[in-house]
Amino acid sequence: MRIDVVTIFPEYFGPLDLSLIGKARASGLLEVGVHDLRTWTHDVHRTVDDSPYGGGPGMVMRPEPWGEALDALVAGGRGEPAGGAPGGGVRLVVPTPAGEVFTQAMAHDLAAEQRLIFACGRYEGIDQRVLDHAATRMPVTEVSLGDYVLFGGEVAVLVMCEAIVRLLPGVLGNADSLAEESHAHGVLESPVYTKPPEWRGHPVPEILRSGDHGRIARWRRDQALLRTARRRPDLLAALDPGTLDKRDVALLSGAGFQVRGADMAK
Ligand SMILES: C[S@@+](CC[C@H](N)C(=O)[O-])C[C@H]1O[C@@H](n2cnc3c(N)ncnc32)[C@H](O)[C@@H]1O
Repeated sequence: MRIDVVTIFPEYFGPLDLSLIGKARASGLLEVGVHDLRTWTHDVHRTVDDSPYGGGPGMVMRPEPWGEALDALVAGGRGEPAGGAPGGGVRLVVPTPAGEVFTQAMAHDLAAEQRLIFACGRYEGIDQRVLDHAATRMPVTEVSLGDYVLFGGEVAVLVMCEAIVRLLPGVLGNADSLAEESHAHGVLESPVYTKPPEWRGHPVPEILRSGDHGRIARWRRDQALLRTARRRPDLLAALDPGTLDKRDVALLSGAGFQVRGADMAK
């Protein structure tokens, strides 16, 4: 996969050199280009913003530098102009609090793309025409990290990059971690423990030290379901009842949680 990020703060992306993303880059599983939007300005002040049409507070990112940046990246894949099919298998991802909320499912969809361009907004955001024009030549996805407002899109892009890159084949040492973790199957992961067996008066649940893999798996499943029901009833409500077995349903109803479509449990 190749990821290009356009921003007025390239320094924000130092963490893309670190940890498993850094290793993925070093091993060739991932290419990353971070581009300063001001490269595509032509005035002495390298201006990227202007006052909003219609009035109101704040400034809006001007379309011209964004248009040139996307022209260059779409055409060349690395910022240099080149030929090739319009779009060329690229998806533009624009972080905005007005976008669709980012989920693990969306991370999976984006991880299946060959190339992603992230456009980091600042001020009151990017002139809408940039997105409208880009949509004539490539898919455009507007993504929100959640129902709050950040200063800019950089942090949101770092979050999305982590979630996406860890799904790329070969990036995680043990791909099984992906199957077990929170949000993989609509439930949260059970609590996890390591040595020592007792710490500050808190013992590790005995069952995890029993060596009985069947009972451990069932305990983890129970904890995952109860945790999800208590913390994220929205996830429980959205769960496909066909993924539950009769013991799951008995556990949840015994703990006072109603399961939608309980009669469909296996
Ligand atoms: C101050 S915000 C602009 C907010 C915009 N005026 C609005 O009300 O929708 C500046 C930039 O931060 C980023 N941003 C802010 N909150 C975000 C969120 N919840 N998710 C993703 N990006 C966000 C976007 O790139 C946005 O263009």
